[in-house]
Amino acid sequence: MTAPATHQPALTIGGIDLDSPVILAPMAGVTNMPFRVLCREIEQELTGTASGLYVCEMITARAMVARNAKTLHMTTFAASETPRSMQLYTVDPKFTYEAVRMIVEEDIADHVDMNFGCPVPKVTRKGGGCAIPYKRRLYGNIVEAAVRAAEGSGVPITVKFRIGIDDEHHTHLDAGRIAADAGAAGVALHARTGAQRYSGTAHWDEIGRLVEHMDGTGVPVIGNGDIFAADDAAKMMAQTGCHGVEVGRGCLGRPWLFAQLGAQLRGEEIPPEPTLGEVARIIYRHAELLAAHDGEEHACRDIRKHTGWYLRGFPVGGEFRKSLAQVSTLAELRERLAPIAGSEELADHADDARGRQGGSAKLALPEGWLDDPEDDTVPVGAEIENNGG
Ligand SMILES: Cc1cc2nc3c(=O)[nH]c(=O)nc-3n(C[C@H](O)[C@H](O)[C@H](O)COP(=O)(O)O)c2cc1C
Repeated sequence: MTAPATHQPALTIGGIDLDSPVILAPMAGVTNMPFRVLCREIEQELTGTASGLYVCEMITARAMVARNAKTLHMTTFAASETPRSMQLYTVDPKFTYEAVRMIVEEDIADHVDMNFGCPVPKVTRKGGGCAIPYKRRLYGNIVEAAVRAAEGSGVPITVKFRIGIDDEHHTHLDAGRIAADAGAAGVALHARTGAQRYSGTAHWDEIGRLVEHMDGTGVPVIGNGDIFAADDAAKMMAQTGCHGVEVGRGCLGRPWLFAQLGAQLRGEEIPPEPTLGEVARIIYRHAELLAAHDGEEHACRDIRKHTGWYLRGFPVGGEFRKSLAQVSTLAELRERLAPIAGSEELADHADDARGRQGGSAKLALPEGWLDDPEDDTVPVGAEIENNGG
């Protein structure tokens, strides 16, 4: 291995040693098995290694315990995926415990992350998602239940949260300490408040504050928010002292970003942005992997949102984009991609924000939610249905 250029690249989460500190952030509707495999394949192809962590889209603990068929399908991993990393969405210590027991006993994953960052009004209004860490005892009880369920299994539990509810109610420092006290093996901070949703810029200085606050706990801090370009991971690590980084929107339509971030951190030559022709090949490979996992019809529907992202910055025209959005078979997709297959064109402004953005807005919360942070009543109706949020 080459010596690191700017920062020690290895990251340890519980008993899991990673040769790269770059993590694919869980993204509902995106980080399914085909997408994770695609990211790994490209990284392997371009750099000879794929050694970070690639987290599954969130899985609702309750649906998992109920053995919902769609949910269980979402928990499948490819044989090439090690370690297998899953994220649970949960609001309740009981279902958390049962879901983690199931993961351990049935050997479903090697790592479990927990989602306390979801800002969707439908769930925060009921006290779920990013509303939970404000209720310190409830939050602690949930993390503790997960850690207890995983005890002795070697499956580390990590926790992902935001800075807080809004600028007046920051919770990340407490959330980090509580997670460490409960036995979590890592914490990830999306450096925005819930009210901020995905808007504005991420507050990397708050990642630095959390790193300082967690000093001495031995629990690594993963920074998350606004990593879009090849040198952003090194910048965030140098600026905040965080132990690893998590990448969300930056890799939408750019699954090669992991190869670039990893190479940059190792001081290797950064693989260049692909040409339009190469992107066409990646789109097809992505659709092929989706089809193998979910069937051709579903794959052709699902690839639409990705093609929009893949083609950002390329001068291909509205008609071409539209034609890709209407394919119903892989053969049709291949045919429609043919005219660009040999293109050497490069994208303009490839490394800008994509995916969710929007504006900030007051976080919807249950009546009186902020009155008593010690109240550990389990929220009712705050589950996400079918893992769709
Ligand atoms: C489409 C989409 C789906 C997401 N789904 C999840 C999720 O299931 N679990 C989660 O913890 N965060 C989820 N997030 C948040 C990301 O993991 C990440 O924290 C956020 O996008 C900030 O990182 P970024 O600036 O690198 O995108 C989602 C974000 C997007 C854009």
